[in-house]
Amino acid sequence: MTLEEAKAKLEKFGQMQVLKYYDELDDASKKSLLDQIDATDMSIQANAAHPEDLVKRGAITPLECMEIAEIESRASEFEKTGLDAIKSGKVAALLLAGGMGTRLGSDDPKGMYNVGKTRNLYIFECLINNLKKVTDKAGAFIHLYIMTSEKNNDATVRFFKEKNYFGYPGEYVHFFMQSMAAATDYEGKIYLEEKGRMATSPNGNGGWFVSLVNAGLLDGVHANGIEWFNVFAVDNVLQQIADPVFVGATISRKCTVGAKVVKKAAPDEKVGVICLEDGRPSIVEYYDLTEDLMNAKNEKGDPAYNFGVILNYLFATEQLERILNGSLPLHIVEKKIPCLDENGNLIKPESPNGYKYENLVLDMIHQCDSCLPFEVIREKEFAPIKNKTGVDSVESAQALLEKNGVIL
Ligand code: UTP
Repeated sequence: MTLEEAKAKLEKFGQMQVLKYYDELDDASKKSLLDQIDATDMSIQANAAHPEDLVKRGAITPLECMEIAEIESRASEFEKTGLDAIKSGKVAALLLAGGMGTRLGSDDPKGMYNVGKTRNLYIFECLINNLKKVTDKAGAFIHLYIMTSEKNNDATVRFFKEKNYFGYPGEYVHFFMQSMAAATDYEGKIYLEEKGRMATSPNGNGGWFVSLVNAGLLDGVHANGIEWFNVFAVDNVLQQIADPVFVGATISRKCTVGAKVVKKAAPDEKVGVICLEDGRPSIVEYYDLTEDLMNAKNEKGDPAYNFGVILNYLFATEQLERILNGSLPLHIVEKKIPCLDENGNLIKPESPNGYKYENLVLDMIHQCDSCLPFEVIREKEFAPIKNKTGVDSVESAQALLEKNGVIL
């Protein structure tokens, strides 16, 4: 893209501030900035003016969950079905590790965080250990896809290699990078992170399948006969991966997606709630859950919207391919964005200073034809690390790991 073309594009989207330092740049940096301007979608930032308009919900009704009593009574049947699928290579695991983990405040990828007390025990290691429990039982390895972003890919790949994949066979591990989106101030103006570079952040975890396809990995998925993807977040150290009972239950119910859920601790707990929206499976974020829905009861007298998702889903590959071109809603998220101040100095803000633009994996559920919400025991499967201290922190996750017999 030439400078004139870049100016035309930036003017159209009201982003001329991006060229503030252009004249100071050397030729290579000029070219790299023009390339970045060319490659960046600048239409989404206009939404910063009215973020509330982005959420338009349909009619919400309850979706029945498979609860623990039923799961326990059919566990061996489900486990057999799940293990058969795993042994025949039909199940892959997909780790979402492209996020920035800004709340934890470490510059390293979140998975490199050491949760050990008397020894080293990294978050990535906890996840691989959990996966190995299943592959040991099945007597077969499964493919593990790891989504990173431009910001943390090199460090993540290097770390896994250095640690010898924590004993998992390297040929079963596939890395790919997600896309980025420009980050802005509250007026939707794109920040600079260097004089010759716009501030960008990963564009949310919702684009994982598109990114996997764009990385050229779909042929391998077909060649390996992968029919299911167990997608999970990096930060839950009790994450049960490729859980055969969950896999078997989703297959037996003939659903195109399964979602692990936990009973909500309180009606106003801050978790996305599984439901139907206009008759299709969906997840309503806690901030969209009205008082009425929060207090609604089902025919058994239990809260009607009582199950929250824990970012562990099992997607059927054929469903993913059918929804591949469907667009996901945009979410505007307030975050801390490192950027240049008015004097051109880099600042790392202590509190949020603008917006990131994301698509979320939870919105993919609404694109699926049928969903099995599958209840799990919170204390055994849900120990998220989001913050340094307090709720969902390193300390709370360490306590839960110890409770589950993991030596720290
Ligand atoms: P979070 O919603 O906790 O976001 O991600 P985050 O960026 O990691 O953390 P904060 O909000 O900045 O503190 C939930 C899961 O989705 C992945 C994360 O790596 C985590 O596993 N994720 C998030 C991506 O893979 N890509 C993204 O763009 C965002």
